[in-house]
Amino acid sequence: MKHDQSKLIRTQIDRTAEGEHSSPLFLTSSFCFEDAETMRAAFADESDDNIYSRFSNPNVQEFVDRLVVLEHAEAGFATASGMSAVFGSFMALLKKGDHLLSCNSIFGSTHTVISKYLPKYGIEYSYVSANASAADWEAAIQPNTKMIYLETPTNPGLEVLDIAMISAIAKKHHIILNVDNCFATPIGQTPIDLGADLVVHSATKWIDGQGRVLGGAVVGKKELIHDIYLFCRSTGPSLSPFNAWVLSKSLETLEVRMERHCKSAFSIAQKLEGHAKINFVKYPFLASHPHHAIAVKQMKNGGGIVCFELKGGLEAGRQFLNQLKMLSLTANLGDSRSIASHPASTTHAKLSEAERQAVGITPGLIRISVGLEHKEDILNDILQALDA
Ligand SMILES: Cc1ncc(COP(=O)(O)O)c(C=O)c1O
Repeated sequence: MKHDQSKLIRTQIDRTAEGEHSSPLFLTSSFCFEDAETMRAAFADESDDNIYSRFSNPNVQEFVDRLVVLEHAEAGFATASGMSAVFGSFMALLKKGDHLLSCNSIFGSTHTVISKYLPKYGIEYSYVSANASAADWEAAIQPNTKMIYLETPTNPGLEVLDIAMISAIAKKHHIILNVDNCFATPIGQTPIDLGADLVVHSATKWIDGQGRVLGGAVVGKKELIHDIYLFCRSTGPSLSPFNAWVLSKSLETLEVRMERHCKSAFSIAQKLEGHAKINFVKYPFLASHPHHAIAVKQMKNGGGIVCFELKGGLEAGRQFLNQLKMLSLTANLGDSRSIASHPASTTHAKLSEAERQAVGITPGLIRISVGLEHKEDILNDILQALDA
């Protein structure tokens, strides 16, 4: 098979004696052995037999194998949420005295892990901005820098970082490059092809695509994944087989869903640009986006998220949400249902104004996760809320 889409659809748990076409669900905590010797060999890592679902499970493995195909990775491990994938990748590979270098525009909980919890274990960190040049990144590297972490496009500011440029610096200094690919999905970009060593995912978002389950994964270099596997198998953030079954099925439709999400998002972004109530629209594939050149170089599409800044700031943001009739107000993204959020009054309300500005969250910033409803209905709901 030539295409990833065919390979992923045909990567499947071996058919059982029942002859089922769809993958069966192995909702079991543990697995049985024929005899003491087979059991001993499994525990001694002399066989690949499943032992216990905290270590491995056929449904979890199917989900991982499919994501590995899409991300062009060597191996992977699936976790209970995106945050456990992020945390596991840090804790397995960093130790006391190491330094983590990250972009400051990152998901809020990731920022909490880096700035509040890693220092408790003696792991140092520092940030550079999303606009940092190659020289800025290079200057921020310390003798003890062990990992570079970035998210692109960023949540919620939609900034785009040059993965190839940063990976060249990481390689030169023998530093692990870890990229959160949640917003683009492997349909939009494959960071490993651009030099990343690891890719982390919140599968809760576009991969599930229907707002049903939490899940996460880390994929990448085999030896790094093995360390993450050993850490997670002992500490327990493993993905439930049921969630893995849902997420694995979802991967089959990720490409067709993302095509529609991204096409609608681009069209809505273009139609909103220049609206009298809006200061600016932010979408990676709009020529007006400050990182447009990087976006078109490394992404196959602009993604399913559109942001815009309302004239009138914080209060205008709150009023806009109250006027929406169809879009949902909920703390998720990447759903078949379109979602609106106002970061300054919700997810990022605890930051100071200056901290928000530093990561591109202006008072009137609205984030739209463009769903699978007809694009005209999504746009019309946004327009009537702007006019109201
Ligand atoms: C970019 C990004 N990374 C990681 C996460 C964390 O994922 P989860 O909620 O599945 O733990 C999120 C959640 O919104 C996210 O947007």
